[in-house]
Amino acid sequence: MCGIVGYIGNREAQSILISGLSKLEYRGYDSAGISVYNGKALQTAKKKGRLAVLEEQLQSNPLNGHIGIGHTRWATHGKPSDENAHPHSDNDHQFSIIHNGIIENYLSLKEELVAKGHVFKSETDTEVIAHLIQSLYEGDMEQAVQRAVKKMKGAYALVVLSKSEPDKLIAVRLASPLIVGVGQGENFIGSDIPAILEYTRNVYILNDGEMAVLTRNDVQLKDVEGNSISREIYHVDWDIVTAEKDGYDHFMLKEIHEQPKGYRDTMGSRIQSDQHKVDLKELTLSKQQIESIDRIHIVACGTAYHAGLVGKQVLESMTRIPVEVDVASEYRYRNPIITNNTLVIIVSQSGETADTLAALREAKSQGATILAITNVVGSSVTREADQVLITWAGPEIAVASTKAYTTQLITFYLLGCHFAEVLETKDEQFIAEVVSALQVLPEQVEMILSQAEDIKRYAEHIAQHDHVFFLGRGLDFAVAQEASLKLKEISYIHSEAYAAGELKHGTLALIEEGTPVVAIATQEDLFDKTVSNIQEVVARGADVLGLSTVGDEELVKSVNQLLFIPKTLPFLTPALSIIPLQLLSYYAAMARGTDVDKPRNLAKSVTVE
Ligand code: M6R
Repeated sequence: MCGIVGYIGNREAQSILISGLSKLEYRGYDSAGISVYNGKALQTAKKKGRLAVLEEQLQSNPLNGHIGIGHTRWATHGKPSDENAHPHSDNDHQFSIIHNGIIENYLSLKEELVAKGHVFKSETDTEVIAHLIQSLYEGDMEQAVQRAVKKMKGAYALVVLSKSEPDKLIAVRLASPLIVGVGQGENFIGSDIPAILEYTRNVYILNDGEMAVLTRNDVQLKDVEGNSISREIYHVDWDIVTAEKDGYDHFMLKEIHEQPKGYRDTMGSRIQSDQHKVDLKELTLSKQQIESIDRIHIVACGTAYHAGLVGKQVLESMTRIPVEVDVASEYRYRNPIITNNTLVIIVSQSGETADTLAALREAKSQGATILAITNVVGSSVTREADQVLITWAGPEIAVASTKAYTTQLITFYLLGCHFAEVLETKDEQFIAEVVSALQVLPEQVEMILSQAEDIKRYAEHIAQHDHVFFLGRGLDFAVAQEASLKLKEISYIHSEAYAAGELKHGTLALIEEGTPVVAIATQEDLFDKTVSNIQEVVARGADVLGLSTVGDEELVKSVNQLLFIPKTLPFLTPALSIIPLQLLSYYAAMARGTDVDKPRNLAKSVTVE
């Protein structure tokens, strides 16, 4: 989603802004722009399309100056266009602002401003903020911003630059992430750490309702009443190289190959190898608190929701506590039954997804205990949850989530073992078996990755089709849903995931000669049933790619092509079976020539509802 960069210091701001925005390209955007103060006036350049289009314009008309702001916009109010791109300004070009989020009351604010003579150039909600701040300016920019945010309803990460006080930048946030990078004789603002990591590792993470006032040599944090706030600096300990492609053609391919490391890092010291046990030290839930949980809700969006579908089956089988899984945007409006004994597990790679955060707040307000599974330390979700389990996948840049999903699965397995041990719903021997099987998963993933060429061939075949079906039962159905989303989002091939036994209740009508079907059959207890369902599509002419752990004769006879994953415990198979299917999507997208890392219309972190 939209990206924000701000700079104040002694260097040329333009190159720092452009470099920062390029690090945020992965978030998804459709226009880009910067404003720089040149000693006399605010100069702005903004263009629809990729950052490269803006850079081309800046080559012939550079913006010189040592303070500036930059933005990549993902359209919400108003189509992608030069006019709607940020930064936005007021009629006197006194203020230039960039904004992530949505101002819900922008129409009423706009009407008031129009009545006072303000003239608007764009269709955006953001332009209203620039006019509003100018209308409230009485010689103190900080106070004008404070007055403005009190009138605004909605979500914002906002950065303000003014020619009236050109020695400072003001940043303020509510429900949209914002960080401040602290340098020497220079300071930075970013919506995400990669934007500024080239220049500093020392950051302040702003909380909701907080503002930062940046000058060259100082950063002051305040609340929106102007009261000072003290905050420890967060030192970023991961490297910029982890956020770069490292020789791979795409971030997605790099991240698929990073999964063995993600599994190892997520298990890390949480597994006590000598005792074959799981120790989730970071959880502070007592035995009594765990025993009091009588229902679990898993709430998430997209791929994280699909990890939750696996999590449900894992937790139910390990603990026998009933688990429901909800899409976050539905959960908060369906009046879910929540009591003090409800554990709500929030799953989010970014920890900033607006729908997920809203669901978290709703559940918390109704008395649930919140356990977050997230990949970003210091994200909003980590700050608002009662308990946090970090997935150590490392920064995930590609819009299509891969290593975040699989490390979420690993975290659910660890949590299942931990709860089962505390509740004594599984014996030591069973948990020891799970732990041993978990520990060999990284090598097994490496084996699957080495078969990429076979998968590529089938991917090139399905890339010629417009519709693909994924089938599975039980855990295989959960994996089918994630595989289908992956294929859709990056190759733009329409696909559907179906519970294999459900196909005959309507969808079978869509199967015709040559329709590609990916059938996942890894669950021993459901194997024969799934094979029967595969026969149903084969009989209608489907072209079937089977995925199994066992080389059963029946399956070999039924399908056109067969892939195997190494043997593991049945309930761990999702952590293996998704790997070839991620590669399948990747190579299908490559064959179709789509923008794999930045698929159309999508954003990495969806910070609007
Ligand atoms: O950051 P989150 O895990 O909260 O994001 C949730 C979804 O937006 C995300 O998983 C999305 O579905 C991915 N693009 C799928 O690959």
